[in-house]
Amino acid sequence: MNDGDGALAAQAQGRKFGPLGTALVIIPTYNEAENIKSIVGRVRKSVPEAHVLVADDNSPDGTGKLADELAAEDEQVQVLHRKGKEGLGAAYLAGFRWGIDNGYGVLVEMDADGSHRPEELPRLLTALKGADLVLGSRWVPGGRVVNWPKSREFISRGGSLYSRVALDLPLRDITGGYRAFRRETLEGLGLDDVASQGYCFQVDLARRAVKAGYHVVEVPITFVEREHGDSKMSRDILVEALWRVTTWGVGERVAKLRGRGRPGGKPSQP
Ligand code: GDD
Ligand code: MN
Repeated sequence: MNDGDGALAAQAQGRKFGPLGTALVIIPTYNEAENIKSIVGRVRKSVPEAHVLVADDNSPDGTGKLADELAAEDEQVQVLHRKGKEGLGAAYLAGFRWGIDNGYGVLVEMDADGSHRPEELPRLLTALKGADLVLGSRWVPGGRVVNWPKSREFISRGGSLYSRVALDLPLRDITGGYRAFRRETLEGLGLDDVASQGYCFQVDLARRAVKAGYHVVEVPITFVEREHGDSKMSRDILVEALWRVTTWGVGERVAKLRGRGRPGGKPSQP
């Protein structure tokens, strides 16, 4: 679905969406010293009215200190220093809370390594005018990946397909991490009981948004593999994703069957 379609679909649903407040772009970092200055600069240039929050897990390579230097010279840049590496999910949850507490209307997720191009953010924000949540998507028409090893593409496509089937989600890129949420959407997702630590955090939030009935729109993006530093993808992250998605899927099916078994019973809510 492209940007215009999102707005049209929303109109068709008869929904009215309120104006977008100020956007906070949350950038989680772990050892991104080579990337942090460039990504923050590109965000500030692409969407000058947006603010930036770097959520750093005490990176040994000094990313947090570099982020502090950026914050010192730009009042629209802030840094959330966390005590140690706790995973992407925990960093985003802390960032979302900070953003909500500080009154932002839109919360954006973006990787630090340049894979999510800040120059595409205006398109995501335009689509959010007619949606509750916008997903930057590699796997819809117009979306693509550049320089990604075939092995990673396979895992990512496989992960999205598995999540789509296991969780019955009408989405193509369920694991992606370039997203824009309305604040009200995040407030409605029950973030307090999100336990996902690694990249399955993205699946968890997408699943919660769809099950809660929010209007989720996928916008095609070009995902560009990082040039500097290393991916934090690991076997543990994959295993966590596989078991959590499977557990959610089984749980949903059991709940549906139970609902059907009772006279007049309804499937229970997620
Ligand atoms: N604070 C914090 N703590 N940041 C983290 C942690 C952590 O434990 N782990 C990763 N990050 C940050 C990285 O520094 C980077 O900014 C971003 O999260 C994404 O990490 P990458 O290591 O670059 O992810 P990837 O390129 O392998 O994975 C991409 O594809 C995944 C699967 O589709 C990303 O787009 C993920 O968001 C996506 O889930
Ligand atoms: Mn990356």
